[in-house]
Amino acid sequence: MCAIVGYLGAKSAQEVIVEGLRRMEYRGYDSAGVALVDGAGTESAAVAVRKKAGKLGNLEKLIDEDPLPPSTIGLGHTRWATHGAPNDRNAHPHLGAHGRVALIHNGIIENFAELRAELEDAGHVLLSETDTELAAHLLELEVESGADLTTAMQRVCGRLDGAFTFVALDARDPDRIVGARRNSPLVVGLGEGESFLASDVAAFIEHTREALELGQDQVVTITRDSVSVTGFDGSPAEGNRFHVDWDLSAAEKDGHDWFMRKEIFEQPRAVADSLLGRRGADGALQLDEMRLSDQELRDVDKIIIIAAGTSFYAGMVAKYAVEHWCRVPVEVELASEFRYRDPILDYSTLVVAISQSGETADTLQAIRHARTQRSKVLAICNTNGSTIPRESDAVIYTHAGPEIGVASTKGFLTQLVACYLLALYLAQVKGTKYGDEIDQVLCQLEAMPEAVAEVLGSAEQVYALARSYAERRSFLFVGRHAGYPVALEGALKLKELAYLHAEGFAAGELKHGPIALVEDGVPVFCVVPPRDRDFLHDKMVSGIMEVRARGARTIALAEVGDTSVESCSDEVVRLPRVPVLLQPLVAAVPLQLFACELATVLGLDVDQPRNLAKSVTVE
Ligand code: M6R
Repeated sequence: MCAIVGYLGAKSAQEVIVEGLRRMEYRGYDSAGVALVDGAGTESAAVAVRKKAGKLGNLEKLIDEDPLPPSTIGLGHTRWATHGAPNDRNAHPHLGAHGRVALIHNGIIENFAELRAELEDAGHVLLSETDTELAAHLLELEVESGADLTTAMQRVCGRLDGAFTFVALDARDPDRIVGARRNSPLVVGLGEGESFLASDVAAFIEHTREALELGQDQVVTITRDSVSVTGFDGSPAEGNRFHVDWDLSAAEKDGHDWFMRKEIFEQPRAVADSLLGRRGADGALQLDEMRLSDQELRDVDKIIIIAAGTSFYAGMVAKYAVEHWCRVPVEVELASEFRYRDPILDYSTLVVAISQSGETADTLQAIRHARTQRSKVLAICNTNGSTIPRESDAVIYTHAGPEIGVASTKGFLTQLVACYLLALYLAQVKGTKYGDEIDQVLCQLEAMPEAVAEVLGSAEQVYALARSYAERRSFLFVGRHAGYPVALEGALKLKELAYLHAEGFAAGELKHGPIALVEDGVPVFCVVPPRDRDFLHDKMVSGIMEVRARGARTIALAEVGDTSVESCSDEVVRLPRVPVLLQPLVAAVPLQLFACELATVLGLDVDQPRNLAKSVTVE
């Protein structure tokens, strides 16, 4: 969603903030803005603001033309628009009525209309259409009535409904910055003589790796050398200190044109890291953060997986693995739909929430609902300390490292790994598989980093394919069994990156309607199951023949040595030979490469596709 950063130290606040925003621009790029305290500590101290619609580059250009004064205290924001169009006026930071307080915001204030009416009745002139500006006015009213900024923030938060994470400063109180967190993330960076507030540690990793994560409904006050936390009601509270164990290079492109491409190529490492340390001394599978007892897991008689977007497709693959290995029924639900259908849940239902960011509002609200129904919630998440794992009973962290490209790639593959591990662990605890069978699958999983590296070797072939289809406006993707979610994921990648019509189908469904979409030259990607699944495999090959007979250009993703696809495919991209349930780990990769390259050829911004944001913290 939006990115927030605040800085108080000895360095140039402008430089620290703009660099921090650059590292978080994936969170939103509708507008960018900075506010600094000018003349801190003097009678004439004031807030200086520069803000501009569009990407961060537009703001930098504006600052070049109209420089900001030197300052060591400030805050900055990149926006993903909710209230009000993405224009200069609605860009953050917003100021109070007298320009003394500056505030930035991530979220939506739900009692916006009544607060706006109250302020307007009191004679306030609001310059933007945003909900954020109301909070800036309310905060300034509080400080003008004599409250310090911390108390003022507590009082304002107490009046608001909805989701709001704020960072604010007061020009007359230049030795503190105050933040508040409800729902969307806010972390504190603890440096030497300097402190930071940010949506993501990436914003300050260059300066410090010591951090403090805030809990829900907390207010934080930073000075240059201290941090204090309270609840919204002013009661003392504590954040969780942690050390960031990845370094700056993980947040840089490392010679690639896009973060996404870099992240695609990081997948062998990410898969390996997500498998690391999963065996105990006896070789059996262990999951360290599994805070559910064996008995609780044995009692599970139904699993509901909830997730959004790409994470939902990982959940679809998980269904095949869990049902096959554990014989427990699994439902996979879109998080945004889950609680509205009044799902049947109880203490023996395990709800598994899959989220790369750990902040997706739809998924968060779904797990909150599940917990009110006494179900246990297990999170599969890539972002340490984010809200979804914090509010879950158990967690399996993926170890993909920071994923910055808006389109999920290594996040997806590592989610698949975590899903397989969960399925095997349940099989181990419930005794639905023998130890040696589980060991065999673990060994196959441990071979997957190499298999993913092998399929990356076909990048040039896939890039050439993307270039040859640069004129096409419509693409179809088909798969069966675990290949079906891969087809859906391939279509999503192409939609979000290349803004093209792309649809994924279960291959067996084509004949029930979608085959009408097939016309001369339409490219159809076909995820072909391994040959040892002869039943599935042969049905898929028939499906390829059927679309080809109707003029489609067929691109088969088929395992090495599968000659049966050659006569019915215009192109064959080879996949390493792997078990059918693990095939999504390799089959997804060419589709990621294809979408990345096609969007590049079309001249689009691969890392920041239009209208999207990396984590969607509004429902
Ligand atoms: O952070 P999450 O995994 O909860 O995010 C879910 C979706 O918003 C996300 O997967 C989205 O669909 C990506 N842009 C897909 O590439």
